[in-house]
Amino acid sequence: MIKRLSLLLVALISLEVAAKEYKYSPTPENLKRRKEFADSKFGIFIHWGIYSMMGDGEWVMTNQNIKHKRYSQLASGFYPSKFNAKEWIEIIKNSGAKYLCFTSRHHDGFSMFHSDFTEYNIVDATPFKRDVLKELAEECNKQEIKLHLYYSHIDWGRDDFPVGGTGQNSGRDKSKENWSSYYSFMNNQLTELLTNYGEIGAIWFDGVWDKPNFDWQLEEQYRLIHSIQPQCLIANNHHKEIREGEDFQNFERDLPGQNTAGYSEGQQVSKLPLESCQTMNNTWGYNIVDDNYKSTKEIIHFLLRNVGMGANLLLNVGPGPDGSFPEEAATRLKEIGEWLSKYGESVYGTTAGIIPPQDWGITAMKDNTMYVHILNLNNNSLHLPIKGYKVKNAISLINGKSVETKQDKNGVTLYFDEIPTEIDHIIKVELKPI
Ligand code: GLC
Repeated sequence: MIKRLSLLLVALISLEVAAKEYKYSPTPENLKRRKEFADSKFGIFIHWGIYSMMGDGEWVMTNQNIKHKRYSQLASGFYPSKFNAKEWIEIIKNSGAKYLCFTSRHHDGFSMFHSDFTEYNIVDATPFKRDVLKELAEECNKQEIKLHLYYSHIDWGRDDFPVGGTGQNSGRDKSKENWSSYYSFMNNQLTELLTNYGEIGAIWFDGVWDKPNFDWQLEEQYRLIHSIQPQCLIANNHHKEIREGEDFQNFERDLPGQNTAGYSEGQQVSKLPLESCQTMNNTWGYNIVDDNYKSTKEIIHFLLRNVGMGANLLLNVGPGPDGSFPEEAATRLKEIGEWLSKYGESVYGTTAGIIPPQDWGITAMKDNTMYVHILNLNNNSLHLPIKGYKVKNAISLINGKSVETKQDKNGVTLYFDEIPTEIDHIIKVELKPI
C-alpha cells in the first residue's frame, strides 16, 4: 500500500515537473510564418466594436462607470451601414500594410464574430446580423492580407470572469465568479476563431496586466492554439518578459526597449520578431473629439525607427459607428502607401541596422545592402562607423544619383549636395565584408 502510494506520489511529482518544464518547439511552418511576419514590417490594427457608437474610445464602459446591463443595450442599435470589408482591405492594401489585426473581442466582452458560446455577438445581438469577421477574412484572403486577431483576456460583462483591477463598477455578480467556466469559454471561442475563418496569422492577446499575479493558464491556451493552427503566431500584450509558447513580442506605444509611455517597464527586448503598436491620434477605439492626429511624416518616421531595430509597426485605425474609416486616417494611410510604393525596397524584408538607431536616423540591412534612412540631419555629410566593410557604391533612392563616399579606417563618410530635407533621404549602400 505504502509502495503504491509512493509510486503515485512520484508520478504526480513528475507530472508537475513535466508541466513546469514545458518547452515549446515551434513547428517549421511556424518558423516560416515568423520570418514572413518579421519581413512584412507594417500592419494595421483595427479597434472596432459597439463602443464605437459612444465615440469615446474602447474603454468607455469602464471610464464612464456604465453598468454592463445598460452598455449591452448598445448592441441592439448597432447597424454600421457603411461597413464594406472590400473597401477596408483595399485601403489597408494600398497603405502598404501586409496584415490586419482586428479586435475580435475587446474588454467589453462583445464578440465581433458569430459565436455559439455567447449570444452577445454581432450576428445574434445586433440588427446588422452580419459576421463582419467572416467578410474581413474572405477579403483578406482575396487581397493577400494576413489576418491577425486581437482577443481580450478581460471581460467586463461576464459574471464568471474573476474581476481584476478594471471594470469593477459594471454591476457583475461577484458571487458567480468561476475561472474554469470563463477559461473554457475563451478556449471555445479561440477554437471557433481558429476553425471558422481560414488561416489566422496571429492571435494577439491583451489584458493579463489586469491581474498580473493570477495564473491565466496561458501555456495550456497557447498549446491549444498551436495544436489547431501550428503556424499561427501568438503574441501577448502583457507588458512583461516573453513567456514560453509566444512567437513574437509586442510593445505598446513605444519602440522596443523604450518606455516613454509607461507600459514597458518589465520588458527586455527578446530575440523573437518584434512589433510595436501605435495610435494615429490618441485613442484606439473611435473618439469623436480626438483630432490629435500624427502627421504622415511622423508616422513614417516611427515606422522607420522600428525598422531600424528590426521591428514592425502595427498602426491603429478606429472606424466610426457607421463602419467607415475616419477621413484623417484614410488620408494618412493613402500617403504612407504612396511613400512605401516608391521606397518599399528599403523597408520590407530588411533586418535591424548594423549601426544602432541614431538621432539622425536609422539603418536597415538586406544581405550586404545597407539602407541609410536620414530622418533628421543638419549637415551635408554623415559618418557611418562600419568597420569590417568596404563600400562598393552608394546611391540616393530619392534622385537615383550616386553619392560621394570617403572610406577611412573607422568606416565611411557620405557627402550630399545639400542638407537632406525630404521626409526621409534614403541612401542605398552596397557593402563588401572585408
Ligand atoms: C491597452 C488597452 C486596450 C488597447 C491596447 C492596444 O492594453 O487596454 O484598450 O486595445 O492597449 O495595445
